[in-house]
Amino acid sequence: MIKPRLINLVSHSDKRGFLSVLSPIQTAFPSEIKRIYILHHSNPDSERGGHAHPNLWQMIFCTSGSATVEVITPKDSYIYELGGCDKALIIPPGYWRTLYNFTPETVLVVLADKEYEDTIYIRNFKDYVDWFNTNARESLGNN
Ligand code: TYD
Repeated sequence: MIKPRLINLVSHSDKRGFLSVLSPIQTAFPSEIKRIYILHHSNPDSERGGHAHPNLWQMIFCTSGSATVEVITPKDSYIYELGGCDKALIIPPGYWRTLYNFTPETVLVVLADKEYEDTIYIRNFKDYVDWFNTNARESLGNN
């Protein structure tokens, strides 16, 4: 499985402010972007995600406020504290993710390489563990 990673954008600053760039996008995100959605006005006590995508690539920018993103498999666990426009979190296929610790200002911009469909989700953790054991366990550490 390809590991998740937090990448740095190149930031340009001058007296007008900052401009942060990720280009070409395929250096970090090897698939074609098909969908963008934005999480905003989140309830700080709430949690989002709580599912896995066997075949979906996602890239998350936290353009305002902050949030915690937990990205796990039954064997590995990664925790990212997002905040600031100069970083992007890449989540390759196969990981269970949970998002929490929102502030009222948090804005998360999420890019995905597939359209929204129920079939691209595993929403039950036990089903995810079964999927992982059948499909993903042997490919751990390949990247
Ligand atoms: P949901 O999957 O619960 O969000 P999260 O993964 O952040 O917990 O989605 C909330 C609602 O938004 C649900 O009615 C489905 C809808 N939705 C879309 O229509 N398109 C999308 O791309 C996404 C992610 C959700």
